[in-house]
Amino acid sequence: MGESLRLRGSDSQANTPSSQAFEDLFDALEHSVLGPAGGVVALEVRAQGLLRAALRQAHHPERVDERWPDDTFELGRCGFGGTDGLQRVAKSGEDSRCRIGERSIEIEEHNRGTRAVRCSWVCHDKTISVTAATTLIGNERILSAVDSMALLRHHGDVEVGDGLMDFAVNVQGLAPPDWLTARIAAALTSLGSYPSAAADLNAREAIARRHRRSPDEVLLLSGGAEGFAMLPRLRPRLAAVVHPSFTEPEVSLREASVPIVQVMLAPPYTLDTASVPEEADLVVIGNPTNPTSVLHERSAILALRRPGRVLVVDEAFADAVPGERESVAGDTFDDIVVLRSLTKTWALAGLRCGYALGHPDVLAALTRGRAHWPVGTLQIEAIAACSEPRALEIAAAKAEAIGADRRSMAARLESLGIEICGKPQAPFLLLKIPAAEQVRSRLRADGVAVRRCDTFPGLAPGHLRVAVRPPDQVDLLIEGLQRALPRRRM
Ligand SMILES: Cc1ncc(COP(=O)(O)O)c(C=O)c1O
Repeated sequence: MGESLRLRGSDSQANTPSSQAFEDLFDALEHSVLGPAGGVVALEVRAQGLLRAALRQAHHPERVDERWPDDTFELGRCGFGGTDGLQRVAKSGEDSRCRIGERSIEIEEHNRGTRAVRCSWVCHDKTISVTAATTLIGNERILSAVDSMALLRHHGDVEVGDGLMDFAVNVQGLAPPDWLTARIAAALTSLGSYPSAAADLNAREAIARRHRRSPDEVLLLSGGAEGFAMLPRLRPRLAAVVHPSFTEPEVSLREASVPIVQVMLAPPYTLDTASVPEEADLVVIGNPTNPTSVLHERSAILALRRPGRVLVVDEAFADAVPGERESVAGDTFDDIVVLRSLTKTWALAGLRCGYALGHPDVLAALTRGRAHWPVGTLQIEAIAACSEPRALEIAAAKAEAIGADRRSMAARLESLGIEICGKPQAPFLLLKIPAAEQVRSRLRADGVAVRRCDTFPGLAPGHLRVAVRPPDQVDLLIEGLQRALPRRRM
């Protein structure tokens, strides 16, 4: 049995300032879970997010925002934190409004160096529970994203708006191309009728032709995200979710109380098939993976197949990879489900368009209990349009252009001393950057939105994700970074 620790007890002091109580709580976590230096930093940086998420549940949101504004890196306010996330600072704030009545910490040791840490405390008569996972990667124990649902549910779209230049969301462009908008607009006149089976079949046939499959192996989806929400219907006994990756599959499975193992890949985030537990009867992996931008080899993906297991490959960004290299969408395996999105390349995020490919029996299991007419007429029209040969040619050219933009963008970022993680192959880059949270906040004040990454399980602090954009837009990012990056010591 592994190491385990359980602290439980009531806070004897009524009206304990929460900063002190939280500090005690995290001190206990820090000593028991994280050990020396590296981990402490991780805890301190992430604890802010944890507190923010927890306090949101307990307080009126404005009051939380007032004290922990999302956009500013307010170090030390709640009694711990680190200058630039690198060193501990003295307690500087007090919050007597939050009363801690009881708290508990449970730590469980799992195999492969992962520990789950569950903390709960009572705040204004509400019990708040948060679970975090820590993983031993090399010699460093990192606290992965505090996996409260609120953080797993964080996506780049909430980081944009207010006229900010958007590097946070990986959608290409602000609106669909004119020919696609015209096609969707032409379908408006048919909205008086329910979505027809004929239109559904027409779209499935177009998709089947493009992937050389049969229409009964295609399921239209209201965005790839709908496919994740369907996964619990496969009734897995144990799901393995390969991280760092898009968090929605984990959210859906958690909400359905499916037991989950987080498989944490270490930098450079290439797939280690041996780290996926044999007993998992559902495995979810992204290819290329968001946020690491890593493209796993097809052979490694296929090596995850096991009798009795369903392998789900999220290929939301596969159409942005020239030649759709390493895709398994065209493979007719009974046990693989491929989820595809049409919202990124075609700027259709607001319409919700995607599809699943898989064995008809597995697709039938996924749709059990689904509402009738789940995908609307305009969505079906757009899905068909994006799957026809003309669209595929445009998408192929776009993929080449994205590749060229990515290479030039990466070189410019590297010239600022920023490390590009992994071997990027997707329309976004994962950056390792000193004082990431402070840089993000400064960029934001300068009109540029980038994606925070501390919400992704398995990422150590100090990462940001940026969408690949054309050079004229990258100019603004580079200028912003020149102002936002901490000055290098001479
Ligand atoms: C990796 C990944 N998969 C799936 C999705 C969901 O895409 P859709 O808009 O098709 O629901 C996203 C959205 O950001 C994503 O990043």
